[in-house]
Amino acid sequence: MELVGTGVEGLDEMLGGGLPRNHIVTVLGAFGTGKTTLSLQFIMEGLTKGEKCIFITLEETVESIKMNAQSFGWDLQKYQDDETLAIVKLEPADVKTTLTRVKSELPEFISKFKADRLAIDSISLLNMMFPDEVERRTHLFELYQQIKATGTTALLTAEAKDDNPRSSRDGLVEYVSDGVILLLFNEPEGSKETQLVIQVVKVRRRKHLRQKKPYLITSHGIEVHTEADVF
Ligand SMILES: Nc1ncnc2c1ncn2[C@@H]1O[C@H](COP(=O)(O)OP(=O)(O)OP(=O)(O)O)[C@@H](O)[C@H]1O
Ligand SMILES: [Mg+2]
Repeated sequence: MELVGTGVEGLDEMLGGGLPRNHIVTVLGAFGTGKTTLSLQFIMEGLTKGEKCIFITLEETVESIKMNAQSFGWDLQKYQDDETLAIVKLEPADVKTTLTRVKSELPEFISKFKADRLAIDSISLLNMMFPDEVERRTHLFELYQQIKATGTTALLTAEAKDDNPRSSRDGLVEYVSDGVILLLFNEPEGSKETQLVIQVVKVRRRKHLRQKKPYLITSHGIEVHTEADVF
């Protein structure tokens, strides 16, 4: 099984080397846990290896995504200029146009661009646009099949439920994805500190670590401390 580096050394270790190529993995977390950062880091890892990458943003503008990357010292402009990177903004407010684009244009775009890596930030917003709740799972499954058929390796971010940080808002993406990585706040009773912890909870067809590990968001991006334990 060919493995794809996430750009986060400690996370690759937890995954037993990296993400299986052509898998679709969801990074699930509450606001501010570093979902966008991790997806950018995943894309940056590909770019520095000369891979072609697509970043799809639904929440933030293209400029805002580039500024986030810049704050970690990652220059996306360079890769946009040499056309190894495409950053695409989808408008959640414009449901009709966006759905058409996603259903009929996105799979073809990924194939034509020959994207080695794809990030969607966030799949929660995209999923909310599928109008019929009953059909949402079918739509999502179809989209995943289409993405998989392109041969790309995908990292999708998903928002956690307010009352259950281990579950996504729609309760669907974790089932449809090949893998799930949780980003959690650890706030032990009586402690004044909040620790960020990461846990790999699912990787289809692969053995992986199940323990929670602490991580930091530094000026270099996400750093997982596999040698440390959570408090
Ligand atoms: N350049 C930086 N240096 C250090 N830490 C940073 C930097 N940029 C962001 N952070 C930290 O990362 C956090 C936000 O990360 P990020 O935007 O990836 O989270 P998110 O999970 O995508 O949030 P949301 O759900 O709101 O989109 C910030 O609250 C801050 O603590
Ligand atoms: Mg974000």
